[in-house]
Amino acid sequence: MPAIVLIGAQWGDEGKGKATDLLGEQAQWVVRYQGGNNAGHTVVLPDGQDFALHLIPSGILTPGVTNVIGNGVVVDPAVLLEELSGLEERGVDTSRLLISADAHLIMPYHVAIDRVTERYLGKKQIGTTGRGIGPCYQDKVARVGVRVQDLLDEKILRQKVEAALEYKNQLLVKVYNRRGLDAEEVVDTVLGQAERFRDRIADTKLLLSQALERRETILLEGSQGTLLDVDHGTYPFVTSSNPTSGGACAGSGIGPAGINAVIGILKAYTTRVGAGPFPTELTDEAGESLRSQGGEFGVTTGRSRRTGWFDAVLARYATRVNGITDYFLTKLDVLSGLESIPICVGYDVDGERTDEMPMTQTGVHHAVPIYEEMPGWTEDLSGARTFKDLPANAQAYVQRIEELSKARVSAIGVGPGREQTIVRHSMA
Ligand code: IMP
Repeated sequence: MPAIVLIGAQWGDEGKGKATDLLGEQAQWVVRYQGGNNAGHTVVLPDGQDFALHLIPSGILTPGVTNVIGNGVVVDPAVLLEELSGLEERGVDTSRLLISADAHLIMPYHVAIDRVTERYLGKKQIGTTGRGIGPCYQDKVARVGVRVQDLLDEKILRQKVEAALEYKNQLLVKVYNRRGLDAEEVVDTVLGQAERFRDRIADTKLLLSQALERRETILLEGSQGTLLDVDHGTYPFVTSSNPTSGGACAGSGIGPAGINAVIGILKAYTTRVGAGPFPTELTDEAGESLRSQGGEFGVTTGRSRRTGWFDAVLARYATRVNGITDYFLTKLDVLSGLESIPICVGYDVDGERTDEMPMTQTGVHHAVPIYEEMPGWTEDLSGARTFKDLPANAQAYVQRIEELSKARVSAIGVGPGREQTIVRHSMA
């Protein structure tokens, strides 16, 4: 069987954890391919309690699944250990977690630089999660990064950290007026941490290709979302990796022909965390109500999410740049009780209508949504299990989203529980 990519079709937080949970049962492998502990999703542990995962793939809770932190991920060893201990203390078997030898390490200086840079930018800041993600990817591209495999060769590790700190300390001390870091101390700390996960370091690219040859199912779990992609998102208000489906190949080592389904996760309305353009944003009562009804507060930073109506221009764009085959529409239940529900079908950009994502960022900043009103419904949807159980207006809302987004809506979430899902078509 195939490799299936699961990606966020908006600005992240679309409810990917729930979709992974649903599809995870069919998979033998769950792979993270980009990002790091800027991501976050809550999973429900066997003891019934919630646990927030930031780095470890969510398949860790499904017995028999092998979880991979792929080469495209940036790994903070302290966070990795914290998550491993948190899971183990609560009885979760973590033995099936592998880490690519090619993944890059987030070092303490990446976190320090992320935070000072944001403070320095003041009002112009991106609103990063402050986890060192951007600075770590910068080092990767600049070819001065430290990789997981360097933990297996102390001499190389020392050389790399010393070389990096020669420059980073100048930046921290002379530009940002902070304390520099001691190379010796940094190396000793990471080597100590590595003791606890050394045996998990693997050639995951080879293992995944062998798994495909055995026709096993691999779920590639994207974090963040399409509009936060460094190439396809609302640059510069983006993350520093490629959450889009192309990133799944680069960040796991699976070739494009190995992928047979791309599932987009789409929230029934829109949210965004951090700065950057958001055409359908609501700053009034209606936005506040979506935030409280939808529980729109970040798992990683606790920040309140910005909220707005569904934007079909973004969804169409996501379908196009990812090659989405199916959508999983989440949180439809949150919209119950509204008299009518606006859907953004196009933008007015400086007096001209467009139905596609504007070519320039200035265009995105100037985009004024053109809305179509859909009649709302009052019924509670949380008990619906088939499409026919939904009120006619909710069905019409889903069908309109499907038409406008140009991909079929194959599953619908009507509540946080695993069983609160309507499956319309098989997705893999
Ligand atoms: P960074 O990924 O920490 O560099 O942050 C860059 C931008 O991506 C900021 O606007 C963050 O709020 C946003 N971001 C990063 N990770 C997530 C996520 O998992 N969900 C939603 N937004 C995110």
